[in-house]
Amino acid sequence: MKIEVLGVGTTKFGELWEVSPRTLVKEAVSEALSDANLKLANIEALYVGNMLSGILGGQENLGALFAEELGLFVPAFKIEGACASGGLAVHNAINSILAGVYKTVLVVGVEKMTDYNPGEVVSALMGAGHDEERLAGMTFPGLYAMLARSYMEKYGTTERDLAVVAVKNHHHATLNSKAQFQFEVSVDQVLKSPLVADPLRLLDCSPISDGASAMILGSERQERSKTRKTVWITASSVATDSLGLVGRKDLTSLASAVEAARKAYKMAGVNPQDIDVAEVHDCFSIAEVIACEDLGFFPKGEAAGAIAKGKTTLGQGRLIINPSGGLKACGHPVGATGVKQIVEITTQLRGEEGLRQVKGAKIGLTHNVGGSGAVAVIHVLKNE
Ligand code: COA
Repeated sequence: MKIEVLGVGTTKFGELWEVSPRTLVKEAVSEALSDANLKLANIEALYVGNMLSGILGGQENLGALFAEELGLFVPAFKIEGACASGGLAVHNAINSILAGVYKTVLVVGVEKMTDYNPGEVVSALMGAGHDEERLAGMTFPGLYAMLARSYMEKYGTTERDLAVVAVKNHHHATLNSKAQFQFEVSVDQVLKSPLVADPLRLLDCSPISDGASAMILGSERQERSKTRKTVWITASSVATDSLGLVGRKDLTSLASAVEAARKAYKMAGVNPQDIDVAEVHDCFSIAEVIACEDLGFFPKGEAAGAIAKGKTTLGQGRLIINPSGGLKACGHPVGATGVKQIVEITTQLRGEEGLRQVKGAKIGLTHNVGGSGAVAVIHVLKNE
C-alpha cells in the first residue's frame, strides 16, 4: 500500500478560549493546503475526526458543518472512535483512496474541550468507556491507574520510573512552539504533583486541550517536489478489544495495539527495529511504557528502564518516542491527536523539524488508542 501525504498543518494545542472549532479547522486546513500547494477545488472528500462535539457542544453533524465552513461542498464524513477518532478518520480516508473512490482527500481532527468545566469533560470522555465502569463512577485517569498498578505489581516498576516519561515528553515539548506545555519538569516535580488517581499524579496525565490538525492524502502523483522528500503511508491498521477492563485477560498490555501493530508491520514489510521515530498514545505515563512494549520496541517489563536511560530521548537515543512532546506535553485535544501524530511524523521524515529533528529518520510510526484500549490505530510512514 502506498498513500502519499501531500500536505499537513496543525494549530497550536492548548487552552484556546478565544477561538472556535471553525477557526481552528480553517487554520489547520489552510496550512495543509498551502503545504501541499493545492487549492480547495482539488479536494474530493472530507473526513473529520472528533469525539466530544455532540456530547459537549450539542453539534453532531461535523462533516457537513466543516464542509460548509470551508466552502467545500464534497462528500463529508464525521468519524468517532473516542481518542482514536483522528487515526480512524485517516484510516477511512486511506481506504476510500485505495478503493479508487477518491484521489485527493482532506482529513481534519478537531476538539474543543476547555470551554467546558472539567467535570463535564471527564464525564463526556467516559462515553468511551464501558457502561458499568461509567455507572460505577470511573474516570479515565482511574482506569489507567488500574493498568499502572497491575504493571507495577508484575514488573516492580515504581512511580519514579513512570515519572521519567513525563520528564522526557516535557523536554521534547520545549522544542515545539505548537505544544501546550513548553516547559521542563523534573522527576521530583512529577512525584510531588497532586495525586489524580493513585498512582497517577497531575504530571503523569495528558491535559484537557483544544486544537485541530489536518492533512491531505492522495494516490500516487506523477509530479513530485524536487525540494523536499516525499512521505508515504505504507500501512494503516485498526484492531479492537473489549470496551471495559473487566473483559481483558491481561492489564499490562493492550491487545488491540499488539494486534494492530502486528498487521501494520506485515503490511509495511518492516520490523519494530526498523522504526526511527514514533508518536505513541501517552495519555498517561503508564500508557507510553505499555505502548513501547506492545509495539515490540522493548521486551515486556523493560520499557520504563530504557526510557530512563535516554534510549527514546532526542539527541540521545536511536528510536525517538514522542518528539512533539506527546499527548502529555504537546496536549491532547482528543479528536485531533491521531491526525497530529501523523503530521509530526511526516515533517520528521521530510527533515523539517529543526531543533527537534530526529537525524536521518526514514521510517516512522503512529500509535493512537481509543478508550482504555478498546480500539487501536497504527500507521507506518516512510520517506523517499
Ligand atoms: N499536565 C501538566 N499541567 C497540567 C495538566 C497536565 N496534565 N493539567 C492541568 N495542568 C496545569 C494547568 O495548566 C494549571 O496550571 P496553572 O495553575 O499554572 O494555570 C494547573 O495545572 C491546574 O489546572 P486545572 O485545569 O485546574 O487542572 P484540573 O485539575 O482541572 O485537571 C487533570 C487536571 C489531570 C485532572 C485533567 O487534565 C485530566 O482529566 N486529564 C486527563 C484527560 C483525559 O482523561 N483524556 C483522555 C485520555 S484517554
